[in-house]
Amino acid sequence: MQKAMVVCVFLVGFMACKETGKKKVDEEQEPQVYKEQYRPQYHFSPPKMWMNDPNGLVYNEGIYHLFYQYYPDDIVWGPMHWGHAVSEDMVHWEHKPIALYPDEHGLIFSGSAVVDRNNTSGFAKNGETPLVAIFTYHSMEGEKEGRTDFQTQGIAYSLDNGDTWTKYEGNPVIDNEGIKDFRDPKVFWHESTKRWILALVAGDHAKFYASENLREWEYLSDFGKNQGAHGGVWECPDLFKLPVEGTDEEKWVLIISINPGAPNGGSGTQYFVGDFDGERFTSDQKKAKWLDYGTDNYAGVTYNNIPNGDRIFIGWMSNWDYARDTPTQVWRSAMTLPRKLSLVKMGEEYTLKNFPLEQVDGLTAEMLAKDVRVPSGGKKEVVLDGLNQSRIKLRTACKDFSITFKNHLDEALVLSMDSNTNMFRLDRTNSGEVEFQQEFGNKHHQMPLDCSKVGGLELSIFLDRSSVEVFINEGLWVMTDQVFPTAPYTILIISNGQSGQDILLEGIETMQTIW
Ligand code: FRU
Repeated sequence: MQKAMVVCVFLVGFMACKETGKKKVDEEQEPQVYKEQYRPQYHFSPPKMWMNDPNGLVYNEGIYHLFYQYYPDDIVWGPMHWGHAVSEDMVHWEHKPIALYPDEHGLIFSGSAVVDRNNTSGFAKNGETPLVAIFTYHSMEGEKEGRTDFQTQGIAYSLDNGDTWTKYEGNPVIDNEGIKDFRDPKVFWHESTKRWILALVAGDHAKFYASENLREWEYLSDFGKNQGAHGGVWECPDLFKLPVEGTDEEKWVLIISINPGAPNGGSGTQYFVGDFDGERFTSDQKKAKWLDYGTDNYAGVTYNNIPNGDRIFIGWMSNWDYARDTPTQVWRSAMTLPRKLSLVKMGEEYTLKNFPLEQVDGLTAEMLAKDVRVPSGGKKEVVLDGLNQSRIKLRTACKDFSITFKNHLDEALVLSMDSNTNMFRLDRTNSGEVEFQQEFGNKHHQMPLDCSKVGGLELSIFLDRSSVEVFINEGLWVMTDQVFPTAPYTILIISNGQSGQDILLEGIETMQTIW
């Protein structure tokens, strides 16, 4: 923000200073960014206007880049650009100018970015390390003409670690042979075949390609026509290898977003565990597995090039059912907390866990309550300022219980466990503003939670001004939902069913703002 100019004049005997009109104009024009009702305080959101998917997640030379689907002229979806932010810890972000603008080939849809360390692309002429972005071009004209080949893939490069970008003059690099939904390329370096692999989605399946130089791509294979969920179009694929915790085994994981067709309606993220031999992804998994059972974690993908090999995921915290209608005015939507992915095997089944990075713990500030016990059959109610921007940690038996966040207007968000049906529930039907769109508050959301697999439950709940993220047993089960309470939640009520055991509220800590 520009500083106001100060003009001083000498009046009889004393000096009077008054500010020029400049500051007043600034204040009128610039909204109190990050102070608005519902503005997330420790989740990434754009300063203003519309955002959707995270794009081009890549680490390079000390900087974590976050590009994102951005429309700079309105708070609803429109001609897509890539917005840009950078961070040194994936928690505190600095906004950068728009990275990619639409051009003669079309709008800039979702995609990824890689560090081309060996300059395989030849884009660097003076020893720089190119960052290369691979994205989908969406031609509005093509779509309007009723064609089916209006989505193609393009690339752009940056020789100054993401500050400025040049589109490749040979774009598009992958043409479309008539597939209406043909998008969201995710590229990574495949070490054993020493080439780049690209995954994209084509309506109801994923396609894989390979390249030596990021410019020429050879088609390899398809996956998924008859596997997993198919209630809607496949979007935003990601393919990576993960070690299976506590073993020497390694498996490949393919993430696929799907809209509609998620377990609680609208948009959601499924995954497949299998193998990739450099050409083909295979998995004997027939049914969908879901990375998050909440309604608000979509189009999430992982970082390329993280130094210690960690697999870090960020999702868009919204749902196409109502993304355009949520009750914010200056900006629309936020990202999930950055989460580390890991793979566990229980019996014969693989499960992908996702849990916030350690850096997020570094944001905890004041301890509001600690070591509170709620006996079997008992109930505790506490009033706490700061609850609406906090992390709650709690241990309980895998039996019936409920946790309610409430304000003085009786708006309430309720989390509960029903051990008869083995269902964990998130109920936002009366959580605040819900009527802006019919699907938003019409039913509670649920997640199957098999108590036979675990001794007890350990919950980490992250509440921000307009979201809740529930992680059970370090991300074995996860739910992420938006909520819009018209006054802050300040009341916490914990009810313990006839579990025979205390619920232990280990701590409630406020979270610092990241802005
Ligand atoms: C997912 C998505 C992508 C597409 C982008 C357009 O939310 O539909 O498939 O590239 O958004 O903004």
